[in-house]
Amino acid sequence: MNNIRKYAIVGTGGRAMMYFNAILSDFRQHAKLAALCDISPTRMAWYAHLAEEKHHLPSVPMYPAADFDRMIREQKPDVVIVTSMDSTHHQYIIRAMELGCDVISEKPMTIDAEKVGAILAAIARTGRKLRVAFNYRYAPVATKTRELVAGGVIGRPLAVDFSWVLDTRHGADYFRRWHAEKDKSGGLLVHKATHHFDLVNWWINSYPQTVYAMGDLKFYGRQAAVDRGEHYAYDRYTGHPEAANDPFYFPVDGSSKEFAWASLKELYYDAEKDSGYLRDRNVFGDHITIEDTMAVMVRYRNQVVMNYSLLAYCPWEGYRVAITGNRGRLELYVKHGSHIIAGQSDQELAAAQSQGQVESLWVLPMFGVPYQVNIPLVDGAHGGGDTLILQDLFLPNPPADPLHRAASHIDGAASLLVGISANKSIRTGLPVKCDDLVPLP
Ligand SMILES: NC(=O)c1ccc[n+]([C@@H]2O[C@H](COP(=O)([O-])OP(=O)(O)OC[C@H]3O[C@@H](n4cnc5c(N)ncnc54)[C@H](O)[C@@H]3O)[C@@H](O)[C@H]2O)c1
Repeated sequence: MNNIRKYAIVGTGGRAMMYFNAILSDFRQHAKLAALCDISPTRMAWYAHLAEEKHHLPSVPMYPAADFDRMIREQKPDVVIVTSMDSTHHQYIIRAMELGCDVISEKPMTIDAEKVGAILAAIARTGRKLRVAFNYRYAPVATKTRELVAGGVIGRPLAVDFSWVLDTRHGADYFRRWHAEKDKSGGLLVHKATHHFDLVNWWINSYPQTVYAMGDLKFYGRQAAVDRGEHYAYDRYTGHPEAANDPFYFPVDGSSKEFAWASLKELYYDAEKDSGYLRDRNVFGDHITIEDTMAVMVRYRNQVVMNYSLLAYCPWEGYRVAITGNRGRLELYVKHGSHIIAGQSDQELAAAQSQGQVESLWVLPMFGVPYQVNIPLVDGAHGGGDTLILQDLFLPNPPADPLHRAASHIDGAASLLVGISANKSIRTGLPVKCDDLVPLP
């Protein structure tokens, strides 16, 4: 019984599913679901119903967001899992720690420098633990890259070339909902690229020093569509059957066979009355304040330099990265399956993501024969990363971690500092010194 930890989940949207399943099935011997918290009673009730139907756990306590403190006092969770909208993470992370809980936060830890500072201060003040769920570190291909670089196969890393592309299914989906608003998500350089910047920090074992960036909205948004003579007038897709030929058509009321998974309607469409959250806004709408085309240059403390680009409208999805050192070069190519995250089960998501997945990892020694490195396959979403991170988060004695995959709050902050500095650089047109925003140890 002593090994059982009590978890409360704040933010009961699509991503909460992974933690919900982990607590109630795979790790049920070590975990108990203490409570759910959200601004949407409909979404909370959907999860509570699932807990009863599928896991025989009746009456999971539900609390409106405004009663977060009361939830902690009454249910006394050991750990609060934060899977709410990005711009709200800091308030739950900080308050949970002040009330004596440890925290697991989804990425990004938060969205701007001021909130990073407030989180670091709360950790120093309370002594509580914060883990940031960087699941990509756990994907075998990412772990292998870390192992090879740390093992010295390319010598001392000198330069990184990193290009990430999102396709017009997954990439477009960021432009349909709150992610499209910078004050809610920090934009894709924070919301999405926090994963990528964390990987680089970890692979080359350093933190960022100086960042320079450019970014534009070139493909999505009303103006881009008008310029191409392609603008469609509707604000959202649901309720506009005439939009069926629009390649971005995404009705959430179950009216289209292609987008008919029940949770999409029940978690989002049926919950609109709670908070007005629309899951299906026109990707060529006026609400978009983020970029879809981004280029970033980073100098790290260990003097590595990186070129990074992120495009959100490509015909395929995945990434290419090359790390060049003084003894050789490592080249990694990963092609992902296409997917939309919206309350699908972990298994459904993993199946969608693994479709068409191609991974190749080559080491090219400076004066030797190039060789390909085998990558162990692990089932699960995010290249198997989700499966492995859960073991680390929920087992009382997780597997040994010689490569330091478990990301601390400092790692969470360091990855964010690239995106936050890049946002500032885009605004000002100037390079930004990360330490001027938030000094890290
Ligand atoms: N690690 C990964 O690979 C990964 C994948 C998907 C999502 N995520 C992260 O998970 C989080 C949730 O994403 P999602 O896809 O589930 O989004 P979602 O929109 O489906 O869910 C967000 C939930 O937050 C709730 N919410 C909004 N404002 C709130 C507030 N003030 N207080 C409490 N709850 C509030 C919404 O009602 C909704 O239920 C995000 O931070 C996202 O970055 C991480």
